[in-house]
Amino acid sequence: MSTITTTPFVTTSGGRETHLYRITNSSGWYVEVTDLGAAITSIVVRDRKSYWRDVALSYRTALGFEKGGEYFGATVGRCAGRIAKGHFTLNDKEYQLATNNGENHLHGGVFSFSRKVWNTTIKKDKVMFTISSPDGDESYPGRVDVIVTYSFNDDNELTISWDAASDSDTICNLTNHVYFNLNGEGDTSILDNELKIDASKYIEVDEGLIPLGIKKVSHTPFDFRHFKLIGEDIFKEDVQLERGSGYDHSFIIRNNPCVIASSPRTGITLTCSTDYPIVHLYTGNFVDVTCENGKNGHTYTSHAGFCLETQMYNDAINHPEYPSVILHKGEKYHHKTTYKFSVQR
Ligand code: GLA
Repeated sequence: MSTITTTPFVTTSGGRETHLYRITNSSGWYVEVTDLGAAITSIVVRDRKSYWRDVALSYRTALGFEKGGEYFGATVGRCAGRIAKGHFTLNDKEYQLATNNGENHLHGGVFSFSRKVWNTTIKKDKVMFTISSPDGDESYPGRVDVIVTYSFNDDNELTISWDAASDSDTICNLTNHVYFNLNGEGDTSILDNELKIDASKYIEVDEGLIPLGIKKVSHTPFDFRHFKLIGEDIFKEDVQLERGSGYDHSFIIRNNPCVIASSPRTGITLTCSTDYPIVHLYTGNFVDVTCENGKNGHTYTSHAGFCLETQMYNDAINHPEYPSVILHKGEKYHHKTTYKFSVQR
């Protein structure tokens, strides 16, 4: 069984003290999470030569978590991804959210879940973060109570579950924004990490990365049905890759495990399973973190990490053809994802 230790972490600009919670399994592999943004800050595993490697990127300052455009490791909400022009209609009422990404709304707005200090409860081998987001928070309707639970077991499975409920109808789409580099964080590029995604369809986007429609991956750079280096097609001439400055696209997944990623150099392998329909692959195209803010004094630039954000469809509230992201009053929101780590010898 895993054990949990607590240490002090950074102090926020508002003077709140935050903490790191280390969940260590019986092999000594560990995951660290913080109440700041209910974020994952480290995933430390052994590579094929038995060297310890931290495969998650993070910030070392409060400023990074509060302002960083990367959302390293953070819980993202209320609505992960983009909402076109920050606008939607629910029960005949119109809502205007912050437009914090060009003309669109991104990742829950300005002072979103990723930027807040959460309450913590340690329950046996699990760390639970809770937050109560009041009616009108970031202009979303209804009060939403959220629980994010992290565990890391002896099978090296990092499991995240998200639970929520609202006192009136609202929209909700929660995910985690951890960036992996299976060579070890601090290594400059994930382009030599291999990836396999069980998806025959992905979602094409417009210039603002708002969904246009569902497309087949076959004969496109989006075909990851067989293992391929992330860098193999990323610089190919393709209007979708141009719009994202790399991969910044949602894949409609078929079976679990939906994604397997691996570093040929370290042998570290990551297997992702989820009960949600989308994996959003983001290859860290806009990452820009100086050594003042990067974990361990590391500078992170474009492609320093990749994200596999399990979620509902982007902008689903404005696309009746996609599964609904409406969380009705009295309903229970639940979403679970497991990232399992292993080593190929
Ligand atoms: C998501 C978006 C990206 C980018 C990152 C955060 O993955 O789709 O465009 O905004 O979050 O930097």
